[in-house]
Amino acid sequence: VALSLAFGLPDPGLFPTEAFAEATARILSDTRVATTALQYGPIKGYPPLLEMLAARLNATEGPGISTENLLITNGSSGAIGLAARLLLDDGDTVLVEAPSFVGAMSILRYSGAKLVPVQMGEDGLDLAVMGRTLEDMARSGVRPKALYTMPTFHNPTGLTSPEAARRTLLELAHRFDFMIIEDDAYRDLYYDVESGSLPPSLYSLDTEGRVIRTGTFSKTLAPGLRLGWALAQPVAVDRMMLLKEEGGTSPFSQAVAAEFGRDGAFETHVERLVEAYRAKRDAMLSALERHFPPQARWTRPTGGFFVWVALLSGVDSGVLASSAREEGVDYMRGERCFAGTPEPGNPTHLRLAFSALGLDEIEESVKRLGRAVKGLVG
Ligand SMILES: Cc1ncc(COP(=O)(O)O)c(C=O)c1O
Repeated sequence: VALSLAFGLPDPGLFPTEAFAEATARILSDTRVATTALQYGPIKGYPPLLEMLAARLNATEGPGISTENLLITNGSSGAIGLAARLLLDDGDTVLVEAPSFVGAMSILRYSGAKLVPVQMGEDGLDLAVMGRTLEDMARSGVRPKALYTMPTFHNPTGLTSPEAARRTLLELAHRFDFMIIEDDAYRDLYYDVESGSLPPSLYSLDTEGRVIRTGTFSKTLAPGLRLGWALAQPVAVDRMMLLKEEGGTSPFSQAVAAEFGRDGAFETHVERLVEAYRAKRDAMLSALERHFPPQARWTRPTGGFFVWVALLSGVDSGVLASSAREEGVDYMRGERCFAGTPEPGNPTHLRLAFSALGLDEIEESVKRLGRAVKGLVG
């Protein structure tokens, strides 16, 4: 059986299917609610869901967030697309992490902007490199319009940048005058609560209205709902609303999410997810220890869905991919996650998603992959 570590799919066994069925039945049995859910709805979003999100973000992000700061979108992909359309025109420059999220990079490319990769270090963007890049660009008359970044549980590396680095990043944004798209898709899936709380988001540290933060229910509820949001200053929200075509985001999906989340059920559900995904993360890290050769290094994510592996011995990525296929296991080839010129062959990177498989499958797939790797690094 082929086992796939390639995609950051939520575990379907963790979808709250029964609770969705009950929520749907409640919606449809109340004529007033059913009519609102089935009718065309406001572009901004379904009011009860907006209220629920605003209350939650106020509690987790600090006060001052209201529905004026929110726009419900078709997944956070929709929010990233709107932010890109708001901030970027043909020929503009946008900075991205190297590596970055493949899906977002293609959305950013659709805006016609040029993607300039900035190297990452041990805990997120390498800000010294970034400062030099910005100075070089300034010298040649280029001002990037925006940075797309995932400071928390980064895709693909799993890294989280500390608060001090976030503050430095905001200073760079001020000095070189660019906006920030902060993709915070995995924030709720934090597994190491005992080692302290998460650093505040860029959005909550920002005092200049430079950050558009995107979020999603894809990883916590279900991607099939296609529900995400943008959190931004009201002026940016209003302008993105004007760019939002297609008659808005499904009111029915939003009604199901809002009805599901009533009376704290969303928080209870997230607690359950954290337990389950933490066990998967632990299973993957332990399998890597046992099955991978000493020439490999990997990140130890405190949240999210991914472990990023570096093979330090110059394995050809294509050869590794085919030998993994022969072992019956699939993963995301690291070079796909780099904008612009392909990553040089050494080190070879692999992104492994621990989210979708069961604990035994994680063990088995890492074992198979370890065999493929050992076959090539000796
Ligand atoms: C970092 C990151 N951002 C955004 C998304 C987009 O998800 P969605 O559009 O379903 O919210 C994903 C999905 O894999 C992701 O990993």
